[in-house]
Amino acid sequence: MLARTTQPPPATFSDARIELSGVTRRFTSPTGEAFTALHDVDLTIEPGTFCAIVGPTGCGKSTTLGMISGLDRPTAGAARVGGTPVSGITPGTSFMFQADALLPWKSVLANVGLGPMFRHLSKRQAHQLARDWIRRVGLAGFENHYPHQLSGGMRKRVSLAAALINEPSILLMDEPFGALDVQTKAIMSNELLALWEQTRPTVVFITHDLEEAIALADVVVVMTARPGTVKARYEIDLPRPRGAVQEIRFEPRFLELHQQIWQSLREEVEQAYAQTAAPQEGPRP
Ligand SMILES: Nc1ncnc2c1ncn2[C@@H]1O[C@H](COP(=O)(O)OP(=O)(O)OP(=O)(O)O)[C@@H](O)[C@H]1O
Ligand SMILES: [Mg+2]
Repeated sequence: MLARTTQPPPATFSDARIELSGVTRRFTSPTGEAFTALHDVDLTIEPGTFCAIVGPTGCGKSTTLGMISGLDRPTAGAARVGGTPVSGITPGTSFMFQADALLPWKSVLANVGLGPMFRHLSKRQAHQLARDWIRRVGLAGFENHYPHQLSGGMRKRVSLAAALINEPSILLMDEPFGALDVQTKAIMSNELLALWEQTRPTVVFITHDLEEAIALADVVVVMTARPGTVKARYEIDLPRPRGAVQEIRFEPRFLELHQQIWQSLREEVEQAYAQTAAPQEGPRP
């Protein structure tokens, strides 16, 4: 993955408020039929909040991120960041995706230093800042390695450093740790939480892992099967700092929240499965 930011972050904290109102996104399928991927999504995420979005595959989670980042536009409704309608790439936003998007021909140092270079820092300043972030994500000594010389977990750390070096006020994460083994994922989650607590960007974190969502987030949003909309929103009242995500999942309150949210999510997962198991009926309008 590669984190990119094109402009400096918004100036004030409230500029990191995300508001989707009545957002609908229609696509044309490869066979030329129109179908609705997102339908009437209303979602407000307050500045500094860690929001996790869960929902069945194909329900429009990545599409929702596209509305916030400005990489895509609603067919109807409005996406606003800091009260301003999203138009072009949203300033102050960094992305982290599931797939590695590090530049394979650039070293760890150069990959992490790319954001500051885009922000017109000198190469020396960019590399100085990059070294600091490489250290913060526990990769000191690997500055001159290339992505192919790193493990999957190490590449994620590089990605995280490349995202956070831009000091984003909004961090959009699309299943960032989905490809990692369970232990590495837990380590990365702990590191993400520790770093997030230092700078508190607004985070929108997409995952299929409900335990991961509850362990990390202040708010868990459940989306319906396609056409996706917000089904329910759960405030996660587990105290912060959370400590190790591996341990919090045994807390009684965690188990209670998990049971409650899973009830809601399971219905949608079953519905989505039924949709794909009956392809002759075609997509829902
Ligand atoms: N550019 C596009 N053109 C046509 N259809 C699209 C496009 N982008 C997404 N879709 C469709 O919109 C629906 C939602 O896609 P999206 O990628 O947002 O789902 P998702 O919830 O992120 O799924 P997953 O959990 O599998 O990543 C899918 O049916 C997908 O095929
Ligand atoms: Mg997706």
